[in-house]
Amino acid sequence: MLNKDRILIRCIKEICKENGISYEFFAFDWIAKLTLKRDMFIFGYQFPVNDAVADCICKDKSATYELLTKSGLNAVEHHYFTSPKWHHYTGNYDDETRLNGLLITHNKLVLKPNEGTGGRDVFFVNTVKELDVARNNIFKKCEAMAVSPFYNISEEYRCIVYDDKVRIIYRKVRPTVTGDGKSKIIELMKERNIKITCDDYIIDLNCVPESGVDVILTLKHNLCSGAYANSDIDLAVKNKIEQLAINAVKVIKIRFSSVDIIEVDGELKILEINSGVMAEKYAAQSNEHYIAIKDVYKDVILDYLL
Ligand SMILES: Nc1ncnc2c1ncn2[C@@H]1O[C@H](COP(=O)(O)OP(=O)(O)O)[C@@H](O)[C@H]1O
Ligand SMILES: [Mg+2]
Repeated sequence: MLNKDRILIRCIKEICKENGISYEFFAFDWIAKLTLKRDMFIFGYQFPVNDAVADCICKDKSATYELLTKSGLNAVEHHYFTSPKWHHYTGNYDDETRLNGLLITHNKLVLKPNEGTGGRDVFFVNTVKELDVARNNIFKKCEAMAVSPFYNISEEYRCIVYDDKVRIIYRKVRPTVTGDGKSKIIELMKERNIKITCDDYIIDLNCVPESGVDVILTLKHNLCSGAYANSDIDLAVKNKIEQLAINAVKVIKIRFSSVDIIEVDGELKILEINSGVMAEKYAAQSNEHYIAIKDVYKDVILDYLL
């Protein structure tokens, strides 16, 4: 998708036209400059309402985890590992023992770039060999890695929060096919027009699931890995999720963000906070979603410009 085709760009143009704001795009439409009483830049999905330090903390999964847990909030452990090439600065020569120790303790781990996004290079490992492959893959591209125990996630929720209010909340429902006893998974996916990135599959696509059996295709809940947004959430659970998201943004002091929360055995844990609020897939799903996110972007823009 070209930058100019992003839904955020369409939102910005409409908001500007509807509110008498002048605008100009730079850097292949990746940067927008908006002017009303004063100027503002929007860079990618970053808005200037956020404090630069809060933004850095959100980008660092391990730092976010440490700050949230030290404040008494339930968050997914993200243990920090630097690339071996930096060990002479950090002195972390026992990383090998620490990493293998985590695998022994938890049996299954999740390895990801500490500053990752969009589910890219997130690996699920069960063995020392898989651990080595995943770690090498991550360190080929990144300076730091975060390692978590694997959780059997029953739900992952996203809250888009602005000024301590949850403006949008949804569940991320992973793509699923239902067996008919004769078709391969790949054929069932074609029928339902499901496309997901090849390294996201957790199963052999040539398997033939039994009739009526639901097969979840990926362990990742990212919308860009094929999941879709569903706003149908039990009210009591919704209230708890929203409260946890608000508590989390208050700790990090981030004004505009999306907070991802997982549910594991009925317990809620904060997975990550994104300081860039990207809603491309969510907004593309329906006009109702488009209007909802445009309304949030409008408030953020007008609060800054007026
Ligand atoms: N500890 C974990 N246990 C189980 N699944 C996980 C864990 N961490 C991440 N995942 C899965 O991987 C996806 C991407 O991980 P996440 O930490 O959100 O990274 P990103 O910033 O790349 O989206 C999540 O949506 C979730 O489905
Ligand atoms: Mg994520």
